[in-house]
Amino acid sequence: MSAALDRELRAELDELAATGTLKTLRAIDSPQGPLIRFADGSEAICLCSNDYLGLAADPRVVEAAAEGLRRYGAGTASVRFICGLFTPHLELERDLADFLGTEAAITFTSCWNANQALLDTLCDERTWVLSDALNHASIIDGIRLARPGGKAVYEHADVGSLERRLDEVPAGARCLIVTDGVFSMEGDLAPLPEIVELASARGATLIVDDSHGIGVLGETGAGTAEHFGLAGRIDIVTGTLGKALGGASGGFVAGSSAVCELLEQRSRGQLFSNGVPQSVACGARAALAALREEPARLARLHENVARFRSGLIGNGLHPLDGESAIVPVIVGETSAAIALSERLLADGVFAIGFGFPVVPEGSARVRAQLSAALTDEQIDEAVAAFARST
Ligand SMILES: Cc1ncc(COP(=O)(O)O)c(C=O)c1O
Repeated sequence: MSAALDRELRAELDELAATGTLKTLRAIDSPQGPLIRFADGSEAICLCSNDYLGLAADPRVVEAAAEGLRRYGAGTASVRFICGLFTPHLELERDLADFLGTEAAITFTSCWNANQALLDTLCDERTWVLSDALNHASIIDGIRLARPGGKAVYEHADVGSLERRLDEVPAGARCLIVTDGVFSMEGDLAPLPEIVELASARGATLIVDDSHGIGVLGETGAGTAEHFGLAGRIDIVTGTLGKALGGASGGFVAGSSAVCELLEQRSRGQLFSNGVPQSVACGARAALAALREEPARLARLHENVARFRSGLIGNGLHPLDGESAIVPVIVGETSAAIALSERLLADGVFAIGFGFPVVPEGSARVRAQLSAALTDEQIDEAVAAFARST
């Protein structure tokens, strides 16, 4: 590497530090959970993992993954079209399709990869993609890489804006509407009932990335669609295994057999990259089974969200409204969000500040994420820390 480039990169990092926007990564030396221990021995209540159901360190999930590791080895050591796939992949894909009410599902090494693979495979020069303004970065980048014939961004969760964008789509185009189910930075939900109706009236295909909705919303945890009584009515659902479903890694696309088979045949994320390790597939299956067997986890998660929200409000704070497990507290400037997050950590609560470019300038926030594994006492302690730190 040239010394000049290295100096330029160092100057960029110095600039981040000077503006108070340099992220500090903490090393964790315990399993993921409601109370984590850092490498320096200190502990904190964790409000920033996506372990919504508290399954990341659940003994059943860990044992299933360990058994998968023993039985099938460390990984696939090949892409699946060359060397085949393993039984746990097939079983997991069947489980995911059954859970979400789709014909089929196909796994990827992450939901980032799943979104990119899906968009790339479905887009051609006659495809138009309409995307919510606050969609996850993997969707935004996925659309850029897919280079569809046309694309438009509609205002966040605004059905009127989507309708106006649909009016611009040429007749005969293949039209894809893409939205998060739960928006990761706001914690609010896509207005799926109206979007489903509009998509159906206009002959468009609806894609919902429900990474933050699956394992959180709906009677069985099947996500935002189930929450709205629309289970099985979304054309294509994408999601992650790295949040509620065991928290390891991996993602998937669930939809018709034709969609999944074409992804198998054509998507670059399948053709040029190894699959999810077999152990991870086994762990994710165990997480799905735990959710099926213990629906009380979902109820507990929502009790925890309600307790945390009402605690914040009772202390004069104003979290953004929402029904998901994401509770953002807006503070304004990026440096203010980072400073608040540091004060919280000093007070034993791990919750991260997000600023530009992850969220729009001026709306930096500390985002809290609740878990079914948190106790009442931990939530009350966290609320007290927010009250002291803001
Ligand atoms: C809405 C959404 N989609 C996709 C992803 C990517 O998930 P993965 O970690 O499996 O790549 C995330 C994770 O941050 C997300 O929040």
